[in-house]
Formats: sequence, structure tokens, C-alpha cells
Amino acid sequence: GKSGYDHYMLKEINEQPTALRECFRGRLDELTGRVKLSELGNLEPNGIVTFVACGTSYHAAMVGTRLLQERGIPAQAFLASEFNLDTVPINPESVVVGVTQSGETADTMRALREANSVGATTVAVTNVVGSSAARETDEVLYIRAGPEISVAATKTFASQQAALTMLATVLSGQRSRELVQELRAVPDQIQSVLDTSSAREIAETYHGSDAYFFIGRGYHYPVALEGALKMKEITYTHAEGFAAGELKHGPLALVSADTPVFAIVTGDGRLAEKTIGNIKEVEARGTPVVAVTDGQSNVERYADHVLEVPASSSVTSSIVANVQLQLVAYWTANQLGRSIDKPRNLAKSVTVE
Ligand code: M6R
Repeated sequence: GKSGYDHYMLKEINEQPTALRECFRGRLDELTGRVKLSELGNLEPNGIVTFVACGTSYHAAMVGTRLLQERGIPAQAFLASEFNLDTVPINPESVVVGVTQSGETADTMRALREANSVGATTVAVTNVVGSSAARETDEVLYIRAGPEISVAATKTFASQQAALTMLATVLSGQRSRELVQELRAVPDQIQSVLDTSSAREIAETYHGSDAYFFIGRGYHYPVALEGALKMKEITYTHAEGFAAGELKHGPLALVSADTPVFAIVTGDGRLAEKTIGNIKEVEARGTPVVAVTDGQSNVERYADHVLEVPASSSVTSSIVANVQLQLVAYWTANQLGRSIDKPRNLAKSVTVE
């Protein structure tokens, strides 16, 4: 049941700390900084690691791509429906990773089967034991998020990002006590967001808006896309996510006083500084700005509202920042009286191409 929550979505958002602890259980060694994924065989990527996925899982695949690239392993992500052996050179040396919560998505399964057909090593990052993806790939990494009932993916996205961070660490042979500690801290950081978030008030303020825009750079870019996907699927309002730097190349023509812009800005580095520059462009048009921030930069000065997240490294801060956007989408849909757990026209598992 919904354990007292009005919707499965809110229950599952609140389950994220538990889901992540389960994802990490037995896999992180704080003493050595090593990650151990005992179910995985010896994967030695030779050439480009290719991710295939759809929807929210594709956003996680974008995170996975960046995680590998940062560790010196070339990687690329494809929407599974766009993956094709005619255009993507896959050979028996290739590693192809399908990210799929259900393990049943038709587009992702087709891509994995094509990769199998040429003898590539295929890996499933999935939540469902015994799913098609788990059965038909060479290797499986379970995200252990527990069942997700709401059509909107929430806790499974957090667990996918966490699992892919561990996978990138293993594939690159990285040992980092700092990273292991940061991962371990994420469940408590999410709990503090759940306990203190002002997302509901922000949703009440802006629930009649014409559109919502989300911007971020680096790991925050896929989170901006995910924030927009959640918003559109459960509120039925136009929402788009952009790489913050792209705003001025077109989308800026859309912003107005009726299109709040959510900007994810953490740390105080170059990326934060540049996103703040993009926020100033938006603000000059009278557009409300909501900053999701850890308070390390001076973004508050340019924002109308702030959604706080604890300070941490870039990938873990993205996992936590996303929770604020899940809550904004949830409370906005709630204000609008939408069918939150079963949005119109959508299915939890998409078994047609
Ligand atoms: O089960 P999968 O992860 O393969 O599903 C892929 C998408 O259909 C899914 O992530 C979808 O975008 C979400 N339910 C949206 O919230």
C-alpha cells in the first residue's frame, strides 16, 4: 500500500534514502576507497562504452557517460530508439550498457539484442530481477531500489545514478575514499532535503504557469532534463530542460514572467559562475528564477527563491538536487489535481517500439 501517503510517487520519493542504502549495501569500502560489485564479471572496456536507454533511464545514461569520460574512458549514450547497428559501430570488443528500470522496455531490449547479435559484451543496469534485460545480457548490475509503482520514475533514477557512479569507479579501477564517503552521505543528504524542502510553497506560487524551464551544466544538465520530464508527465504543462549555455541560442525567446526557470547551481567553480551568467540573462526579462543550490556561490542574489541542498561533490550533488525537482513536480501536479500515479496516455513499462 501507500503507507499513509496520498500517492505512490510521494511514497517513492520518500523512500530514496532507504533505496540508496540498499544500493550501496556491501558494495562500498570506506577503508580502502574501493567499490566492489561482486555480481559483475571482469569487464574490460576496449574502445567506447555505449549506453542505451529511454526516458528517465536515458538521463541516468547521460550521467553514466560523463562519469566514465571524467575517468578517461570514452563513452557515449544513445536513446535506445535511435541506436542502430547501421550507424553505431559495435563489434565483439564493445561494451554496451542498457539502463532500464523495468528491464522490459522494447526499444532498449531491441538495442541490447542487436548488440548481442554482433557479439558485444552487454550489461544491464536494472531494478527487476529476472527481467528480460537481466536474462538476455552478459552481465547484470542491480540497482536494488525496490518496486516502483508510480509511472513517474523517482527513486529508481537516484539508484541508477548511484549504481552508475559505482560502475564507473570499478571500470576505471578508481580508488577514492572521498568518493565512497560522499556516496555514503547521499541518503542522509536526501533525508534532510525531504525534511526541509520548500518545494511545496514554490509549487503553490507557480502552479498556473504557461511553461517551466530547467537549466544546468555538467551533471546538472541531465538533471535539468529529468526535472522537465517529471514536470510535463505529471502536470501536463509544457516543460523543457536545457544545458544552461544553450538558452541564448534560442530558448531565451520563450521566457516570460509566466515561465519560471529552475536553475541548478552547486559549488563555486567555473560551471556555477557560468550558470549564474545565464540566470542574469533570464532575470533581465522579468522571469522568476528558482535556484537549487548548496549556497556555495552567490546565486541567491539573482534568484527569487532558493531550494537548498547540502554541499557535496558534483555527481552526488546532482542526485540530491534532483529530489527538489521531483518535489516541485509532485506538488505542482497536486495543486492541479492531476492523476499523479497514472498520468494520462502513459504506461509504466513501454513494451512497444
Ligand atoms: O523501465 P525503463 O527504465 O526502461 O523505462 C524507460 C522509460 O519509459 C521511463 O524511464 C520513463 O521515462 C519514466 N517512467 C518517466 O518517469
